[in-house]
Amino acid sequence: MPQPEIEIRGLHKSFGDNHVLRGIDLEVARGDVVCVIGPSGSGKSTLLRCVNLLEEPSEGQVFVGGTEVTDIEVDIDAVRRRIGMVFQQFNLFPHVTVTENLVLPQRRVLRRGKAEATKVARENLERVGLADKADAYPAQLSGGQQQRVAIARALSMGPEVMLFDEPTSALDPELVGDVLAVMRVLASEGMTMMVVTHEMSFAREVADRVVFMDGGVIVEEGPAAQVVGDPRHPRTRHFLDRILDPSAAEAPGPEAGGPAAG
Ligand SMILES: Nc1ncnc2c1ncn2[C@@H]1O[C@H](COP(=O)(O)OP(=O)(O)OP(=O)(O)O)[C@@H](O)[C@H]1O
Ligand SMILES: [Mg+2]
Repeated sequence: MPQPEIEIRGLHKSFGDNHVLRGIDLEVARGDVVCVIGPSGSGKSTLLRCVNLLEEPSEGQVFVGGTEVTDIEVDIDAVRRRIGMVFQQFNLFPHVTVTENLVLPQRRVLRRGKAEATKVARENLERVGLADKADAYPAQLSGGQQQRVAIARALSMGPEVMLFDEPTSALDPELVGDVLAVMRVLASEGMTMMVVTHEMSFAREVADRVVFMDGGVIVEEGPAAQVVGDPRHPRTRHFLDRILDPSAAEAPGPEAGGPAAG
């Protein structure tokens, strides 16, 4: 079997007494899309943030492209350059244009010259369908357009893998589709992706595998059609029932222990 693009071994993360990740083992093959689902607080964001070292793992190892990124000798900046990350909040610089949002990190982090950085920026704006917004300011764009700019910004750094943390959760429903369409194209082009999402139709359609996390462990993982369509574990089933039909959360079911926490 070829070497996985992302490999996570025995990963633990604690914040003080809060043992958030409790032994995560996960491999993502090159070109695969893995969607991570699970309830709030289960550790999904922490997992992604440990992969690109925004959080320092308490225990365990992470490899990207065969290099151990958790090695204490590693150049963290070099690691982050290889891993693009897109957050729920787009975090664009508000005071500069869309193009400059893509150019500045390339110049600062990759030391690219202005002409090259601008060319790469244009190509990636084209890729996300926003070539015509090159000279706009972020505030002049819709949330969905801003998120596509954030994706183009990450792509401009030439990452080997892309991590997405609920990229569509902050968007109005009618803007979600355009962002997912860009992600679908990236996936079809062979980008290795880890995507935390509540978009089950995206997971079913695009993900090679779906991982269900709860309480800091992977409860169930497998092909999307199986985990989303026919989950084996009752906790996965319960989670999916609630997310696919939010009204089910209020209905007393066999597993309901009491009133839903508000
Ligand atoms: N920087 C931090 N400092 C302290 N505790 C943290 C930090 N980041 C996360 N946590 C804690 O870790 C736990 C898991 O949080 P995390 O954000 O990974 O969950 P999540 O699955 O992404 O949830 P959500 O679906 O709400 O985004 C929570 O109890 C949270 O309070
Ligand atoms: Mg999160």
